[in-house]
Amino acid sequence: MRQTLLREGANELSYEIRGIVKKAEQLQAMGLPIYWENIGDPIQKNNQVPQWMKDIVMALLQDNNTYGYCHSKGVLATREFLAAETNALGGVQITPDDILFFNGLGDAIGKIYQYLRPTARIIGPSPAYSTHSSAEAAHANHHPLTYKLDPDNHWYPDMDDLYQKVKYNPNIVGILIINPDNPTGMVYPPEILRRFVEIAREFSLFLISDEIYLNIHYNGQTPLALAQFIQDVPGIAMRGISKEIPWPGARCGWVEYYNRQVDAQFAQLCNTLDNAKMIEVCATKLPQLALPLIKQDPRYAPYRMAENAKIGRRSKIIADILGGVPAIKFNETFGAFYNTIIFREGTLRPSGQQRMHIAHKGAADLLGQWLQAPNLAPDKAFVYNLLAAKGVCVVPISSFCSDLQGFRVTLLEEDEALLTHIFTSIRAGIEEYIYG
Ligand SMILES: Cc1ncc(COP(=O)(O)O)c(C=O)c1O
Repeated sequence: MRQTLLREGANELSYEIRGIVKKAEQLQAMGLPIYWENIGDPIQKNNQVPQWMKDIVMALLQDNNTYGYCHSKGVLATREFLAAETNALGGVQITPDDILFFNGLGDAIGKIYQYLRPTARIIGPSPAYSTHSSAEAAHANHHPLTYKLDPDNHWYPDMDDLYQKVKYNPNIVGILIINPDNPTGMVYPPEILRRFVEIAREFSLFLISDEIYLNIHYNGQTPLALAQFIQDVPGIAMRGISKEIPWPGARCGWVEYYNRQVDAQFAQLCNTLDNAKMIEVCATKLPQLALPLIKQDPRYAPYRMAENAKIGRRSKIIADILGGVPAIKFNETFGAFYNTIIFREGTLRPSGQQRMHIAHKGAADLLGQWLQAPNLAPDKAFVYNLLAAKGVCVVPISSFCSDLQGFRVTLLEEDEALLTHIFTSIRAGIEEYIYG
């Protein structure tokens, strides 16, 4: 090529949540069963969408209007419904004009960072959900900026770490919160959320709150929405239906702008996002049409409560199996459907020095090849062992922009007997690996 094609930020794109799949597929091709614990897709884990929801979607498919474009910001009636829902929380008040639909939150995440100046940085949590951290880093042509989530304090954000980083880096213009969090499964208490607002106000920043798991919580904790605690600070809430309905294949998510009027630059960012969607015409329409019909149906609230109770039960089962393993730091979860498990310092040795027992010769040979990769993080070596030895596919936490060593699991397995089997295998894998 006569010019270099890519800018530096292109190197920042990686998504180990799907990357690990290639390795698992190699084992699957040898006839070995794989337990998929890598991705937050309830449908892949046999969650059945209720028939009444499918009936709503099927009726929409009979309506000719479903097949056209919609308003570039999204279907007006749906935005009216969502604005009323947010306003009913009693915090910041919005109009349908403050809502913009995207083809999934993944699309929204890409666009939000893309139009910021490369030197305008958003600091986000570590361990990080890589769609955010990769997109933000790609826009900045630099590694992600992160604040620590603390495994020794319920995975809550380390607010002193955040404060110091914001104070001494004038490039930081915004803070990302994910609540409930992926990958830790934590729900943040109100005092921590209020502290985010204080820091944003002190340094004239805006807040982004990824709330895709807002209605997925259990075992006694309920997250607050950004609208409820942001007060007069500018911010963007990100919401979607991938996890909640669940309908990830619909590719439907939206953002809500709060307090646009208080800052001209922030207002311009919101306008730019609206314009970016306008040049694409609009986001997927069918799920937008279905959304208010599903959520207003009297069967929806009891359905979501029952689903949350199931996830809460799985959280307890996992805590019973892994909670007492001395080599790891284990925190019980209260929201979303993930848990991040960290190895205590000194338990993992450099890759290649520890091995699980692998009965299958082909799997053992493959593992041998995988472990040859240069500079392999110790938690990746553990994850590869677990995959080859037990067929359990999890994601190493070092690939979530973290210095910690561990792995993320999901709480999605619908069959509790199988869930117990999978997590008992994980425990056996840890014990074999660490204690020989
Ligand atoms: C925190 C978080 N935000 C956004 C997304 C992306 O959601 P969508 O399916 O709407 O693109 C995910 C998906 O796992 C997620 O965990």
